[in-house]
Amino acid sequence: MSNQQAQAAEKIGELRTEIGEHNYRYHVLDAPVISDSRYDTLLRRLEALEREFPQLVTPDSPTQRVGGTPLDRFDTVGHHVPMLSLNNAFAQNEVYEFDRRSREATGHEALTYVAEPKLDGLAVSLLYERGRLVRAATRGDGRQGEDVTLNVRSIRSIPLQLRGLNWPVLLEVRGEVYMPLAGFKMLNQAQLARDEKPYVNPRNAAAGSLRQLDPRICADRPLEYFCYGVGLWEGDGEPGTQMDTLRALRNFGLRVNPLVHQADDISQCLDYYHRIQVQRDKLGYEIDGVVYKVNDREDQQVMGAVARAPRWALAHKFPAQEEITSVRAIEIQVGRTGALTPVARLEPVFVGGVTVANATLHNRLEIERLDVRVGDTVVVRRAGDVIPEVVSVVREKRRRGARRFRFPDQCPVCGSDVTADDGGVIERCRGGLYCLSQVKESIKHFVSRRALDIEGLGAKLVEQLVDSGRIATVADLFSLSHDELAALERMGDKSAENLLAALKTSRRTTLARFLFGLGIPQVGEATAQELAGFFGTLEALTGASVTQLEAVPDVGPVVASAIRHFFDQDHNREVIDALRAHGVVWSNTSSAKPASGAFAGKTVVITGTLTTMSRDQARAWLTQRGAKVTGSVSARTDFLVTGAEAGSKYDKAIALGISVLDEGQMQAMGESQDE
Ligand code: IVH
Repeated sequence: MSNQQAQAAEKIGELRTEIGEHNYRYHVLDAPVISDSRYDTLLRRLEALEREFPQLVTPDSPTQRVGGTPLDRFDTVGHHVPMLSLNNAFAQNEVYEFDRRSREATGHEALTYVAEPKLDGLAVSLLYERGRLVRAATRGDGRQGEDVTLNVRSIRSIPLQLRGLNWPVLLEVRGEVYMPLAGFKMLNQAQLARDEKPYVNPRNAAAGSLRQLDPRICADRPLEYFCYGVGLWEGDGEPGTQMDTLRALRNFGLRVNPLVHQADDISQCLDYYHRIQVQRDKLGYEIDGVVYKVNDREDQQVMGAVARAPRWALAHKFPAQEEITSVRAIEIQVGRTGALTPVARLEPVFVGGVTVANATLHNRLEIERLDVRVGDTVVVRRAGDVIPEVVSVVREKRRRGARRFRFPDQCPVCGSDVTADDGGVIERCRGGLYCLSQVKESIKHFVSRRALDIEGLGAKLVEQLVDSGRIATVADLFSLSHDELAALERMGDKSAENLLAALKTSRRTTLARFLFGLGIPQVGEATAQELAGFFGTLEALTGASVTQLEAVPDVGPVVASAIRHFFDQDHNREVIDALRAHGVVWSNTSSAKPASGAFAGKTVVITGTLTTMSRDQARAWLTQRGAKVTGSVSARTDFLVTGAEAGSKYDKAIALGISVLDEGQMQAMGESQDE
């Protein structure tokens, strides 16, 4: 080896180790210490050196992830140790039974378990020889799988070379390849854009990606890997417990799920199950349950396996989130703002832990995309608190002669025209208050918990009152008499009395609740609060121009004109006047926007941590004094208020010559204004 080549070899070795460490910090510890661009620079430097000295390129180099020619087929490979499956449990007593059996078999009074999320992907085994990834295989039938090495090499979070030097000579790692939800969504969008079929779910997408014969296609797919065990450990230092095994794997640079948890008895396992179930929708990837494993390896060996599943592990599954059922009818609901939502009435089915009889079909485009027809067999999904939805149609089961659903051009409730808005996605009935459905929904909204919170006035009752013609606006609620109410279906004296009392108390409210309850398009709870805080009185708000409205934090041109438009409608003003005549009151939250003072009309940015007030309090404090508080420093900013650890905003303000105030200076300025 020439001197020059020896130097290059040394530099290449250093770069690979450095890149390996950054991979570990990024993928395994989730704590990168360098920027992406700095990482790319390192990788490019390595590539350049390897181009100059091609004889120094080795397969474990981070530059060699994607490559090889497309295959004709995958080779079949045998697993040294069979890849087992898991016994499932759905009910708590099955979990207690598992614990009882495990304690009995091992002779221990109490057992420690490791509880892990059960990932919904596909099992893959990784074989490392002297620390180098030499083979990756799917589970297949458990004895034989397919050789997917070329594809697996392109998954960036799987190390081609293990970290450190303490790995055993031969190590077979077991884990799950999966596709994160965000990647799944993007992939399906790309599939549609290319006129290719979208994948049904992330698991199919992960499996379909790994089974691509061209490794370059798989390299573009957003796949990830978490390992959960070891098939073979040949060499010293084999850990004695599952927990230590996972720790060792993590040190070798392999990703281990951060939610893995040691449970000191079975009740802690059950606590874990409930905790993970709550977090499930926020994980960013799909899991279908949790797995409990007896921690001690010797205990595991004592227990062994029956059929194709170990006796020392148990999958505690969550209730299925997807089920198959049939569509009885398709109906159109008209919401408070006139939006038409198609809803599938279903043969009731137990899914996601509850019985589901209705599922949303979202909008016209979605119903056209799915092509759902009455009588169809469909997959419904209910995940967490999300509204149940129809995911897909089982086409093979469609009855002959089933008719395509025709989305109406007229409102099914009032017959008014339907037109699209919001980029053509939402179809709206243009009937406004002429549409009984919009009237009912807006009254339900007005009485709901976060608005006027009128107890005892449920949806059914509102519908009865509107249908009978007794009320047409929210103001009419306050002229209802005891006898009228008592005469209604399922009411009676006592309920009528209670409802009248509730109506009476509800009249004392806050401006924010009142504004939210009015159901002004684009004005949710948070905006209602901002508006109330900013203007202080209803008069100030109703008199504000679009420009003045835009001075409110988070109110842009669209929201501002929606508000202006709402108050410009005669019938809206009439309803508001009638409500006030019926005694609906609130105490004005703060004084109206001051026209003078140090902060009046000024644009202020807050940065860093303040000591005497929170960021939100400071924002409200400034807003009350007439300031517009925004999030980023620009040439239009008048003041930057800085707390501890002010960062780049401070530098930018200085660069732009903007006045910088500390908390004390801000308060002093505001107080001189208050006097
Ligand atoms: S352990 C020896 N742990 O579930 C036990 N499996 O239903 C073998 N899975 O084929 C598996 N997450 O693909 C284990 N934390 C986890 C898992 C897990 C997902 C999958 C795995 C296995 C299937 C069995």
